Amino acid sequence: MKTLSGIVGLITLLIPLLGHANAWWLPKPTATITDQDIKSWSCPDCHGRDGLSPNPQTPVIASMPVAHLRDVMQQFNHKERPSTITAHHGPFSDDQILQFAVHYNQQKWQSPQQTVNPTLARQGADLIGKCNRCHEKQGYDQTDDQPRLAGQRLDYLLSRLDQFKTNNTAWPMPKKMRSFIKERPHTELIALMHFYASLR
Ligand code: HEC
Ligand code: HEC
Repeated sequence: MKTLSGIVGLITLLIPLLGHANAWWLPKPTATITDQDIKSWSCPDCHGRDGLSPNPQTPVIASMPVAHLRDVMQQFNHKERPSTITAHHGPFSDDQILQFAVHYNQQKWQSPQQTVNPTLARQGADLIGKCNRCHEKQGYDQTDDQPRLAGQRLDYLLSRLDQFKTNNTAWPMPKKMRSFIKERPHTELIALMHFYASLR
């Protein structure tokens, strides 16, 4: 029994750590990526040096959790996630991916100026209930592998939605989220995207 209570105690101790913005269990990169390296991969052409991507189709990646950035880049690497610009998204070694992830994680988020449909945004605000279970704090939360949705670029969010909805087995939508997206009519999901994009 002693061992059991020890294990329970340890798990209780670890739970808050697991929920930390940058999960402690992630390996650390062997080096800090230089501006020169980042430039040589053209990331700043589309995402800016600071991850504040100027193009409506390109997501803001500044301050995204390391775990999320790493997951996404590994999926690009393994062709498990659609990319319109595959040639720029790898392949990279695991260590390079961590270097990019840490660099962009350390930048400060800034929501772009963008126009949303205010009626849809109001409708979306009433629908966030279940999404808020993971995308907590109205989508501002960025714990573990949760990407920030609040103030993300609308065109990008809508394009992700199309990918989720096509039910395409080559590009399956995030497993965790499948049932939550499936149960919602497309019109409601679009309203949700306008709501998230309306936040600053
Ligand atoms: C030519 C433009 C371009 C270049 C260069 C580029 N990206 Fe991207 N990136 C995009 C676009 C567009 C998307 C949205 C998904 C898609 O269509 O590929 C994206 C998506 C991403 C995402 C996913 C974000 C999310 O939350 O899903 C990450 C991470 C990322 N890029 C990192 C990088 C890094 C690191 C580099 C440099 C190695 C890079 N990108 C180079 C245009 C670019
Ligand atoms: C069980 C947890 C969970 C729930 C509930 C959930 N999500 Fe997600 N969502 C995630 C995770 C984890 C990711 C990142 C995975 C990825 O991008 O591959 C994500 C990614 C997204 C993205 C893409 C963001 C990006 O930067 O690429 C959108 C859009 C999204 N969720 C919308 C929603 C909406 C709308 C709801 C409610 C109907 C919802 N999610 C409910 C966990 C969840």
